[in-house]
Amino acid sequence: MKNQPAPPPDAPTAAVAPGDAADGTGGAHEQPAALLPRAGVMRRRPALVWAGALLAVLVLLAACTAAAAVSISRRQHRHGGAPSASAARGGCDAFAAGRWVVDESYPLYDSARCPFIRDEFACARFGRPDTGYLKYRWQLDPPCAQPRFDGLALLRMWRGKTVMFVGDSLALNQYESLLCMLHAAAPGARTTVSPASGKIDPSYTVRFEDYNVTLVYYLTHYLVDLVAERSGRVLKLDTIEQASNWLAADVLVFDSWHWWPRTGPTQPWDFIQEGNTVVRDMDRTKAFTKALHTWANWVDANLLHTDTKVFFQGISPSHYRGEDWGASAKKTCMGETQPLNGTGPYPGGPIPQQAVLRSVLAGMAKPVYLLDFTYLSQLRKDAHPTKYDGGIFAGDCTHWCVAGLPDTWNVLLYGALTGQF
Ligand SMILES: *[C@@H]1O[C@H](CO)[C@@H](O)[C@H](O)[C@H]1NC(C)=O
Ligand SMILES: *[C@@H]1O[C@H](CO)[C@@H](O)[C@H](O)[C@H]1NC(C)=O
Repeated sequence: MKNQPAPPPDAPTAAVAPGDAADGTGGAHEQPAALLPRAGVMRRRPALVWAGALLAVLVLLAACTAAAAVSISRRQHRHGGAPSASAARGGCDAFAAGRWVVDESYPLYDSARCPFIRDEFACARFGRPDTGYLKYRWQLDPPCAQPRFDGLALLRMWRGKTVMFVGDSLALNQYESLLCMLHAAAPGARTTVSPASGKIDPSYTVRFEDYNVTLVYYLTHYLVDLVAERSGRVLKLDTIEQASNWLAADVLVFDSWHWWPRTGPTQPWDFIQEGNTVVRDMDRTKAFTKALHTWANWVDANLLHTDTKVFFQGISPSHYRGEDWGASAKKTCMGETQPLNGTGPYPGGPIPQQAVLRSVLAGMAKPVYLLDFTYLSQLRKDAHPTKYDGGIFAGDCTHWCVAGLPDTWNVLLYGALTGQF
């Protein structure tokens, strides 16, 4: 995968970005933990019946795909698009009504002093020469008040609580940024890491002992179950047994999408199953939508009557296609040192699956706060690790440097948690 130029993961061709190959483990394990065999989840079906079912579904699917070719709105969310699920309070949409401005007090912490940054996000450690990308603050337009981040207040607010980020390496990206922001607020605080190796299998925990705050990252690329069976690796759109691991959390931040378009050798499943139907492939946006509904049903069934706060990350944009921001088609984020300073729509338009996410969240009984940072992140072609990632991807326009953009995601998370908007 390394050194290959790659189209963005949200490209309609279902191509894959090398940056997206990150399973967020720093190479600690090659095989996603979700692939570990689980006993007794699926019975083996006679091959013939199975092949028949497969054929029937493929035919049906082909028909459906033609007829229902998912028509997803490409409207910009601040220019006539659907309102974000993070219902703007007092006319303030903190995720849309703002600009990136230089703030010399940024970054919010010195990444060299943060002990939690994995190589793939550690741009400064690997010699990124420019620092301008660290200096941008998301400035909100009135009537939004500028959100303030107070790490000590957050540690006190979370005393005795467990905060869990659940998803792919973009969730890990935000998690590591948050660890750094909390560590910077309480640099002397004792922390314990488990497992000590830093391995994510499938989770990884950092505790701020003096505050009794537990922060967990739980790796799952699809939210729904991925199960190794005799027939192969099966992505199960309608089961989410692994979610029992998330019940202990008081605050949950989810994400998914980047692994859905994968094809070829880096596609980590062989079949997709829904009910008794097993197929070799289907429209990936449709599969994603079904999985999100499974997730939403689980949240409504298990968390509706709890105090658990639930967030969902907006889809994090990649920058592999210069034409998205008015550069040449072959330009990627490599060498980019400045954000787009537009206050209008992003030239490349929204990511179509944002509309899917909004619509699923809007249908839920449990209020889920959408951290709708896609647009403000689309403006930040300068904030990716590029080649400064210790040679892990050598051309990463998917993840984000830490310190860097995910710090702003956490400022906004804090703003949401503390009712600032
Ligand atoms: C830490 O928080 C947990 C969960 O609320 C609680 O059970 C435990 O007693 C707390 N430990 C300390 C040392 O306060
Ligand atoms: C817009 O960005 C360019 C560089 O990308 C910069 O030179 C220019 O000053 C910016 N304009 C404004 C109004 O911020």
